[in-house]
Amino acid sequence: MKNIVILISGRGSNMQAIVEAAIPGAHIAAVIANRPDAAGLAWAAERGIATVALDHKQYASREAFDTELAARIDSFQPDLVVLAGFMRILTPAFTQHYAGRMFNIHPSLLPAFPGLHTHQRAIDAGCKLAGCTVHFVTAELDHGPIVFQAAVPVLDDDTETSLAQRVLAEEHRLYPAAVQAFVEGRLEVDGLRVRHLG
Ligand code: GRF
Repeated sequence: MKNIVILISGRGSNMQAIVEAAIPGAHIAAVIANRPDAAGLAWAAERGIATVALDHKQYASREAFDTELAARIDSFQPDLVVLAGFMRILTPAFTQHYAGRMFNIHPSLLPAFPGLHTHQRAIDAGCKLAGCTVHFVTAELDHGPIVFQAAVPVLDDDTETSLAQRVLAEEHRLYPAAVQAFVEGRLEVDGLRVRHLG
């Protein structure tokens, strides 16, 4: 069994998709949020999953928060840490500690549009395709070896909200598939490229 620790900041719909996928060989060891009121925490707790709320506002520095966060994560002996709408910039020490064993999902076709407001930026740039990316986390924000991407069309009458909905449906499909590939040991990282074995 591989232990998975999922980090969220809000509603946690990607976390729910991963839990509901019931991936063989994957044990969701804990869901941790940096906001005590994150809706996803209650959802996980109702299903008997261990939950931790670690309020980043209670920490004097980013380093102090990340040190405590890593200690809490490591208490669950994770094989994989999954960032699922975890809205925090992470320190280099933190990302280094989880190198090769931490995923993020980003709502754009990276390397286009790292950062926030990805859907509006894709619309404003006149993109005909938008999408989402699951990648290994490195010290650079929204950067790192790409595991999976999915594309959706940008329609003429799209708003930020309608495009976000279309992309989110793909996120919910893509993230469990990426976690499953990791759990099955099918990912081989070579620089920024990820090969899918077997
Ligand atoms: C998703 O679009 C994710 O890609 C982004 O934040 C959103 C989180 O949604 N970074 P949820 O909390 O998983 O519902």
